[in-house]
Amino acid sequence: MRSIIDILDLSVEELDELIQTAQDIIAHPDRYSEVCHGKKLATLFFEPSTRTRLSFEAAMYELGGNVLGFSEAQSSSAAKGESVADTVKTVSCYADIIAMRHPKEGAPLVASRAASVPIINAGDGGHNHPTQTLADLLTIYREKGTFENLTIGVCGDLKFGRTVHSLINAMSRYKGLKMVLISPEELKVPSYVKKDVMKKQGIPYEQTTDLEGAMPQLDVLYMTRVQRERFFNEEDYLRLKDSYILTPEKMKNAKSDMIVMHPLPRVNEISVAIDDDPRACYFKQVLNGKYMRMALMLKLLKEAGRI
Ligand code: NCD
Repeated sequence: MRSIIDILDLSVEELDELIQTAQDIIAHPDRYSEVCHGKKLATLFFEPSTRTRLSFEAAMYELGGNVLGFSEAQSSSAAKGESVADTVKTVSCYADIIAMRHPKEGAPLVASRAASVPIINAGDGGHNHPTQTLADLLTIYREKGTFENLTIGVCGDLKFGRTVHSLINAMSRYKGLKMVLISPEELKVPSYVKKDVMKKQGIPYEQTTDLEGAMPQLDVLYMTRVQRERFFNEEDYLRLKDSYILTPEKMKNAKSDMIVMHPLPRVNEISVAIDDDPRACYFKQVLNGKYMRMALMLKLLKEAGRI
């Protein structure tokens, strides 16, 4: 049974195929409105979410299917001590596909070994978030027209920010990539990402604390929130939370066609004054995420012989 736990579970060819499907869905939504008739998605969210859960649910409704699930661990039997494995064995009896978010790194992988339906990782702790990356990829593709020869700046909490880890993994497979890693000293990209991805693939990267200095060379600026829920103490969070705030003033140093991305939720990292700048793409990412989740669920349900 094929599950998507890591963005690298999808080949570059498969990413292309998902992008093509998403674009076809955008052009011809009517052709897809009944393809999952009678099918059920379960959303098992052991951690808060707005976009990821609702976009999975909207995606399944737009494919003609139905949705069941829970949006907090406290309302599930996890609160009584049930294991993830037992929960997904149970839900496999009710649903055709499962999207799961969990605060523990690796929980969706454990779930995929116990489930008899495909599991999609909707975010596991500070580790990975492959479907956010699908949203990011469609956005980059639609805005820049290519994945090659891009200089991508990622800024903010690169230590705990799972969206950044998955994005670096995905982009590492395209030619001419350069990464600029902008963060406070304490929130640098984990060494396993540097060693196993960027060094292994020979990707040039720069590490800096200086957002303004990095700005002029960037084709994409990917801002992130400081991940409060992963900190061991509130003092450190309070000290680091406003390390980077993107303002119209700072945007003056950027290329005229640089795009600004953010997985959202935003706290303070991007001034709302940027929202009207044509380079602001974070709400486009939200919409693109729904289309890519539609494409992904279609693919996995087809492969599982359920549609
Ligand atoms: C991200 C996440 O959950 O990792 N949100 C999302 O899914 N769009 C980013 C975040 O919470 O900061």
